[in-house]
Amino acid sequence: MKPTLLFHLSDIHFGLEDTRALEWVVECIASEKPTAVLITGDLTMRARHREFAAACRWIAALGPPVTVEVGNHDMPYFNLAERFVDPYRRFRAVEAVLEKQLDLPGISIVPLKTVTRAQWRFPWSNGWVTAKALTETLAALDALPAGKRALVTAHHPLTERDPTGKRLTINGNRAMGELARRNVLGILTGHVHDAFDLTQQTANGPLRMIGAGTLSKRIRSTPPSFNELTVSDAGVAVKVRNLEAVPTPAMQIDQVPENALPPRKPEEPVAPVATVPAVDPPVH
Ligand SMILES: [Fe+2]
Ligand SMILES: [Fe+2]
Repeated sequence: MKPTLLFHLSDIHFGLEDTRALEWVVECIASEKPTAVLITGDLTMRARHREFAAACRWIAALGPPVTVEVGNHDMPYFNLAERFVDPYRRFRAVEAVLEKQLDLPGISIVPLKTVTRAQWRFPWSNGWVTAKALTETLAALDALPAGKRALVTAHHPLTERDPTGKRLTINGNRAMGELARRNVLGILTGHVHDAFDLTQQTANGPLRMIGAGTLSKRIRSTPPSFNELTVSDAGVAVKVRNLEAVPTPAMQIDQVPENALPPRKPEEPVAPVATVPAVDPPVH
């Protein structure tokens, strides 16, 4: 099979986008012509109409087919009534220029929804794979022709707990186990604004988790970037492309954090208290 080139972008956050990085991405897409562009959510900063309009114009001019997952920033933030009644109304404005699912030669792109309009916990920005969302994704995977491989696209990494035991994505373990038993080459996500390429062990075998960084000014610990994915018979090769020419391993974090907040700096050394130098008392 001829290798398929895909660009995995995430967290552009129109409204707080990095215009220099976006211009560079447009040039890369125009010259390298990926088969598709996969955007794993947080298209906007505050789900404002003008932010969605800017996203729409940018996507429509790209050329290749584009998929976008809904991110937690893509639901109304200020208008709670709308958030409860019709949370995806604004996102639907961009759906006209998007593909929901993509069937490419040798690989299918299947979405998984990980956002909810509200949760019984705070923050609501964390992920939740509802039973309905997982059922829909598994049905789409199971409907693929025998032997067809898939990449699943979602906004939140599916990691269910951080090393301290804190709950991140609700139902993430179950979702990863179900994906691992199918012909899924990896789950592509965003949300944390740093790239990673990790393998999660599940009860049904390993699952590759590939995260893309951000193309916004809201950076966490690495400069703006996107993932170049090359899908071949051997699997998926990932390169983290960035304007600073930082090598891929240095761009990838080794653990999935809770969110996009910058990591806490190591404790600053405490400034020494000014002391009177110890000197022998004068002798009279
Ligand atoms: Fe984000
Ligand atoms: Fe997010």
